[in-house]
Amino acid sequence: MTQPPPSVPSLVAAEIRRRGPVPLSDVLELGLYAPGVGFYESGGAAGRREGDFVTSPEVGPLFGTVLARALDRWWHEAGAPDPYLVVEAAAGTGTLAKAVLAAEPECAKALRYVLVERSAALRRRQSERLRLEQAPFVLPAVDADTQEPVPDAPPGPLLTSLADLPRVSGPGTVVLANELLDNLPFDLAERRSGAWHEVLVGLADKDDETGDRGLVEVLVPLDEVRGALLDRLIPDVEDLPDGARAPLQAAAGEWLRSALAAAGRRGRVVAIDYATSTADLATRPASEWLRTYRSHARGGAYLDDLGAQDVTCEVAVDQLATVQALADDTAQSDWLRLHGIDDLVDEGRRLWTERAHVADLAALKARSRVTEAEALTDPTGLGAFRVLEWALAR
Ligand SMILES: C[S@@+](CC[C@H](N)C(=O)[O-])C[C@H]1O[C@@H](n2cnc3c(N)ncnc32)[C@H](O)[C@@H]1O
Repeated sequence: MTQPPPSVPSLVAAEIRRRGPVPLSDVLELGLYAPGVGFYESGGAAGRREGDFVTSPEVGPLFGTVLARALDRWWHEAGAPDPYLVVEAAAGTGTLAKAVLAAEPECAKALRYVLVERSAALRRRQSERLRLEQAPFVLPAVDADTQEPVPDAPPGPLLTSLADLPRVSGPGTVVLANELLDNLPFDLAERRSGAWHEVLVGLADKDDETGDRGLVEVLVPLDEVRGALLDRLIPDVEDLPDGARAPLQAAAGEWLRSALAAAGRRGRVVAIDYATSTADLATRPASEWLRTYRSHARGGAYLDDLGAQDVTCEVAVDQLATVQALADDTAQSDWLRLHGIDDLVDEGRRLWTERAHVADLAALKARSRVTEAEALTDPTGLGAFRVLEWALAR
């Protein structure tokens, strides 16, 4: 008989017994992504009905329809390349990809759409919802002499799904990610007696009744390099009270580095997330920006129920900017307007008025654009997300 996989708390406890108190990023790596038992590996996902939280693509198809317009704009700006490689990182169950294709963008014939999703469980769900091809059939072959992609497959759109970012790119390649960066494991620093400390995770003393050992925070001095980074990013660092905290998002920076490489010399990287500055985070209670979710509600404390709840952190844009300066940082509501959300809503209203008497699927979809747009541009919700863009040389 096969043994059930060990639970996340037991994996974390084993790690701490082996190494002593560990950085929070190591705990989150297991809590979110441990094979078979991490939150995203065991059923956790974005989604309106079965999911744990609602993201912009999960509000409805409108977000993908606007994105399809943006993809067309970028395709034209890049000289209408064929093939046109679009890489969607953190593709989840494939909802955004579905909406982009349903919008029938002009670039469809040239489109090679690569869904990149780390969770094997979620990649399986994509294959139930989308027609996926083998990667070599979709990723453009590169001419050995010119290093340019060659169109060698039937016309697009062609889709494939991978666990990691692809290594080929071409003119105009787009790497995009909605709500990925907030889900990458991060470390935590705390200000004490005028100095930075790192919040590690250790084992508590044995409970007298149960004999169990829970997880506790353990403070140790923070290394000089990361301490200097925080000092540089937080102008009034000396004014921070004891207990002020800030996240250290090295994994988000690493992802950006890989995404820039995957976008190639003439591509762009677009990441959409709840984001702010390190200084802003340090002056707010950590409970506001280090959040947990499960089944559409806020979850418990971040060391509780590891594997059973999502743990996320607002993204420190200035930490990402140390990797490469941003070309653009726009509120999601403005970005959606820039790419035509108002026209799409007007079109929806018109269609609904024409077809309301039939109330068929097309009419209902058209009407739902109004409520979707309200949610996507809500300045106290999704509309306040940032669209972060890194454009490479063209
Ligand atoms: C908050 S969900 C967002 C899903 C989807 N983008 C959306 O907006 O609905 C974050 C997703 O990122 C995935 N993920 C985490 N690290 C990843 C990585 N390095 N590459 C690709 N996907 C990753 C998770 O498995 C999860 O599906």
